[in-house]
Amino acid sequence: MAGKDNAIVINEEKCTGCSLCVKDCPGNCLYIENKKAHFGKSVCIECGHCYAICPEDAIRMTNYDCSNEAVLPMTDIASDTLLAAMQSRRTVRQFTKQNVEQEKIDKILEAGRYSPTGGNNQDVSYIILGSKQKEAEKICVDLFRKGTSLPRRISAFAERINIPDDFFFKGAPLVILVTARSSVNAGLASSYMELMAESLGLGVLYSGFFVMCTKISGKLRKLIKLPVGRKVVTCMVIGYPAVKYQRIVPRKPLKSKTL
Ligand SMILES: Cc1cc2nc3c(=O)[nH]c(=O)nc-3n(C[C@H](O)[C@H](O)[C@H](O)COP(=O)(O)O)c2cc1C
Repeated sequence: MAGKDNAIVINEEKCTGCSLCVKDCPGNCLYIENKKAHFGKSVCIECGHCYAICPEDAIRMTNYDCSNEAVLPMTDIASDTLLAAMQSRRTVRQFTKQNVEQEKIDKILEAGRYSPTGGNNQDVSYIILGSKQKEAEKICVDLFRKGTSLPRRISAFAERINIPDDFFFKGAPLVILVTARSSVNAGLASSYMELMAESLGLGVLYSGFFVMCTKISGKLRKLIKLPVGRKVVTCMVIGYPAVKYQRIVPRKPLKSKTL
């Protein structure tokens, strides 16, 4: 479990003993004594709720840079606008040749960094294919053209279609692999990143086929320097869209029940 004895430090002069931090701590790490909050040696996952909630800014997380940045409540974004934007998101498979600016790449990664992770373990990491993008795509193209090591369903599919040189990345300038031990954590990070990319005017394709290739090809895993024990959960192909969608696509009826 994360957390050292001094992961959380409380400024006793500022603390008013309001106990908001105590109530909001998921690990019962805090307690009130002599009308002040104290940090115990419990299972602190360094989620930062105590730091975030303190009205007096009396709490510091010693393992992080605490810059006291103000929050932007989600309620500041109109829910109808948010929903319509989410419904308007489309997978993009046609890209212009325009490169993605570094500031935009940084924002996309920052969105991933701020996604929730189980136990706050923050185990998601990112591989930008960069100079290896063409080589990685070629390995996958060769795999698909040969077909022999693919699952039967996929090799039957690959046999029926033409596999062009840009089959996996569609000429997009940026490919980010999202890796983690937990597929849920990496999936959530990817979703945050996709929405950020869209808000920056970019389009995203999740390449499940590329992810499959990372499972099959040791050569590919070596090329992308995938650490042992980690898996590529998503492959995000990103660039400026060469297409514009005019309307929201319908979906199957909602499957939901209340018990
Ligand atoms: C996990 C995942 C893997 C995907 N893999 C591929 C892929 O390898 N190739 C592809 O063309 N589309 C891929 N897609 C895109 C889906 O086909 C697409 O999301 C679906 O058709 C719905 O279209 P929309 O995203 O525009 O709503 C993938 C999507 C997801 C979520």
